[in-house]
Amino acid sequence: MIPEQWYAVLDSRELPRRRPVGVRRLGRELVFWRRADGVSCAADRCAHRGAALSAGELTDDRLRCPFHGFEYDARGRCRLIPANGRAAEVPERFQLRTLPAREREGLVFVWLGGGAPDPPEPPFFDELCGRRWGGFQESWPVHYSRAIENQLDLAHLPFVHRTTIGRAGRTLVEGPRCRIEADRLLVWFDNARDRGVPPRDAAELGPPTGPPLLSFRFPNLWWNRIGDRFGVFAAFAPVDDENTMIYLRFYQSIVRLPPFRRLFNFFANLYNRRILRQDRRVVVTQRPRRSSLASDEMLIAADKPIVLYRRRRAELQRQQP
Ligand code: FES
Ligand SMILES: [Fe+2]
Repeated sequence: MIPEQWYAVLDSRELPRRRPVGVRRLGRELVFWRRADGVSCAADRCAHRGAALSAGELTDDRLRCPFHGFEYDARGRCRLIPANGRAAEVPERFQLRTLPAREREGLVFVWLGGGAPDPPEPPFFDELCGRRWGGFQESWPVHYSRAIENQLDLAHLPFVHRTTIGRAGRTLVEGPRCRIEADRLLVWFDNARDRGVPPRDAAELGPPTGPPLLSFRFPNLWWNRIGDRFGVFAAFAPVDDENTMIYLRFYQSIVRLPPFRRLFNFFANLYNRRILRQDRRVVVTQRPRRSSLASDEMLIAADKPIVLYRRRRAELQRQQP
């Protein structure tokens, strides 16, 4: 995991208004709950005797433990110990371990880091802000780095997706042209039929024009801009070292009328699920389970986005205080 980052970890729709939700994310058991003015996140363990707070309830903005009714505020500070009475002061040590949490674009983010979040709000892809989407989520038994690298893998399309998006049999990967810009990895690429001529490298192709086909935003957001009016987005929420929750969305501005849009999204989801299943079959077999810069994989030119991802990830891990 890269510390000092905002991680997208939940779909907003998973978090109801009136009850807390317990989920495993970032290798921890976490409880999320909504307040009038935002979202809170804490370790899902009562400071008193370790009961799961996610089985408790919300009273106003407070989270009440189901066991002995201790009440915690938005910052995880215990405000009431019923057995001691309302008049009793609650010592500061009855404090939950909390993570800063925010909601943005239908996703819940948590800040994994020691200090105050920087930037204060989670980043997103500007061109997607406020746009409508349809989507679904899927759990994969893989480390999140493997799931991300699969979406940066340019050579797998004609093999893994032979019957869907790789149908054209374009095995040759031209370029790829890639760039790291701060927390973003941008990729332009063309797949072509192999006509016996070697693929052109990035220098031969010259600087890219137009927006990138793939954009990745550290630590876990990905966007495949397929055209001006549609594309596929994914957030890869680390559950733990061996599991990832993928939140996949299809953004489109082709069909706007609500009933038709729902129908369109329904079929887009079916198709995207099928594509994702094709990926999953192979990615779950990869060893070692976690990718790394020091891996002994024998990478090829087409894997440049994966190399850049690993390199930048290692840099970010090293830069931490
Ligand atoms: S375990 Fe939560 S109040 Fe006792
Ligand atoms: Fe794929």
